[in-house]
Amino acid sequence: MVNTLFRKKSIAQIQADAAAGLTEHAQASGEPGKLRRTLGVFDLTLMGIAAIIGAGIFAMVGKASYNGGPAVALLFVFTAVACAFSALCYAEFASRIPVAGSAYTYAYASMGEFIAWIIGWDLIVEYAIGNIAVAISWSDYFTGLLKGYGIKIPLHFTMDFVTANRGFTAVQEAIADGTSLDVLTKACDAKDAVVNCGQIDGYLAWLNSPHIGSIPIIADIPALGIVLVITTLVYIGIRESKFASNIMTVLKIGIILLVIFLGLNYVNPSNWSPFAPNGVAGVLKGVSAVFFAYIGFDALSTTAEECKNPRRDLPIAMILSLVICTILYIAMALVLTGMVSYLKLDVGDPLAFVFGPEGANIPWVAGIIAVSAVIALATVFLVFQIGQPRLWMAMSRDGLLPKIFSSIHPKFQTPWFATLITGIVVAIPALFLNLTEVTDLASIGTLFAFVVVCAGVLFKDKEFKESGTRFVPYINAQFILPGIFLITGFFLVYFTGIGVLDQESDPNKDEITVSAEKLSVVEGDNPTALSALAFTTLTNPKVYAAGLSSMSSFFGVSTSSSEIQIDISGPNVKKVIKADAKEKVTIASPSGDKVIVPSKETQTVSVETADGPRTFKVKVEENTESWLGAFSHKIPLIFFFLTALLLLLLSLTKKLSLIPILGLVLCLYLMTELGVTNWLRFGVWLIVGLFVYGLYGYRNSHLNRAAGPEA
Ligand code: ALA
Repeated sequence: MVNTLFRKKSIAQIQADAAAGLTEHAQASGEPGKLRRTLGVFDLTLMGIAAIIGAGIFAMVGKASYNGGPAVALLFVFTAVACAFSALCYAEFASRIPVAGSAYTYAYASMGEFIAWIIGWDLIVEYAIGNIAVAISWSDYFTGLLKGYGIKIPLHFTMDFVTANRGFTAVQEAIADGTSLDVLTKACDAKDAVVNCGQIDGYLAWLNSPHIGSIPIIADIPALGIVLVITTLVYIGIRESKFASNIMTVLKIGIILLVIFLGLNYVNPSNWSPFAPNGVAGVLKGVSAVFFAYIGFDALSTTAEECKNPRRDLPIAMILSLVICTILYIAMALVLTGMVSYLKLDVGDPLAFVFGPEGANIPWVAGIIAVSAVIALATVFLVFQIGQPRLWMAMSRDGLLPKIFSSIHPKFQTPWFATLITGIVVAIPALFLNLTEVTDLASIGTLFAFVVVCAGVLFKDKEFKESGTRFVPYINAQFILPGIFLITGFFLVYFTGIGVLDQESDPNKDEITVSAEKLSVVEGDNPTALSALAFTTLTNPKVYAAGLSSMSSFFGVSTSSSEIQIDISGPNVKKVIKADAKEKVTIASPSGDKVIVPSKETQTVSVETADGPRTFKVKVEENTESWLGAFSHKIPLIFFFLTALLLLLLSLTKKLSLIPILGLVLCLYLMTELGVTNWLRFGVWLIVGLFVYGLYGYRNSHLNRAAGPEA
């Protein structure tokens, strides 16, 4: 049984099967049964860019910049490096196995059927769930655009159920606390408003929607619209899709260049300081968004059977599209955070925003950007909507999915059934699901696929080496990897004290409660920051608190941290005047003055700010979370360290190839940043996949049939 789970297909067999699948179809239908080979390097690179530039840079970068400040540009660099190593590994496989199916096919050849199935199942998370996120973002831009022209779609038909429900609950609570809806609405734009404008929209949508019994009918209709239109396009044919995609993508790049070059004239370098206002942890809060911005180059590999010269063109196009987008993204992040203060960038349409009244104030540019965002997101959607059916087609050819998934339309020569199912699978959740959760899931799923592809290259390393033709150059990791780990470890230790927790705090009260040990274990914080740290969103200045006992807060997450470091800094803070800590120590630090105080006592700290002196009470509470609960948040990080250690040992003994190892480690690290809840959700998805495999794929696999009933 174990052996059969890891049964592999040889590369030659994969290619023969792909050809046979097409021939079989041709015999049955009397049609050519071939996908059309129409794509060259230019088309593929444009397709890559079409898939990459989308919601990530047009929408999600706003919040990432707000959390990380201008330093988010560095996160773009870091993530690009992780993606580049993975792209090289994808390219290695794509040049060897130019068959639709992407990471799934590569895993089948390198690690066997079981892992291949997991990857195939996982890629649904990237393509279909990712496309749900894109459809939701598209709908946001589209309705905003219509609003600009005075056309209003009822709120309850422009948002999802979960968002409306959360907004309704938050506003209802605020009203119960004695603030009228009118007051809330007037204040909603302010940074520290009790509820934000989106929550008020949710509240109104919930109230004003038609109800069935007590259940409101709330659904994102424009999201459904884009799914229907693009699915139809993809159903009709790859040639038409390619043509539409190329035009839209050229337009999209033009707009991005316009923003960068025009925006440069409005950059005020003083906005780049502070560069990383919330430390590394603030920057790392943007991992999901920034990584999402890069997803897409890998989808190219699903079009292998429609490329004119896949062995040469696919790898070149993947790398090229990634390089182009990386340059554009870094420039874009610096321009955005240079044009306005990062503090203003917590908006869903940052590119248009910086040319609005709060930025350069050029309405026509803001208008053009809004229109182009609608186009940009549509192109991303198109590429993913092409990728998903082709993946299912490959799985069906192997017998892991029913045959109809690889059935090719006699007239349009597209995998018609798989395309239809993709449309349904994306359309229905897009009506109801929430953007953030969907984005996180898409990011973690894609990172997992990258990890497996890098691991696949490692597995096949020897074979690739012997074949003499390898795309990824072999660099012996034996001594370089320990060196890289040592240097990284040094920097990590040097820069500890950088986990982040957003404390909800009332901006009108100068009292902050910080829970010392809880800080390092809160969902979404940076688990690699070995010391706990929190900051409150108190209007200004910000108050940071960092647990001092770094290793104890990492492992124990218990009460061993007896001191807590309070770091008061912010653009407005001139200096800390006084802190009544019994054992006060002042440390000079680039981020401001720091005082160390014993925990579990209320401290009064006075600060001189640009608005005059202010006094805060800072109270450190003991963590009430069980050690088990706290420990669970560390699981991703522990898993990461163990894997890194294993790779280190294997590199030392087996002289592994450096590039796939770096791709694997970096992607795994980015996964740890997505928090344990996303790991759990993703884990559940994989378990469901295992059941499906057990019930259908395992028995119907062609490899199973070939080996007979005993296999
Ligand atoms: N990279 C694509 C986007 O940002 C998925 O929309």
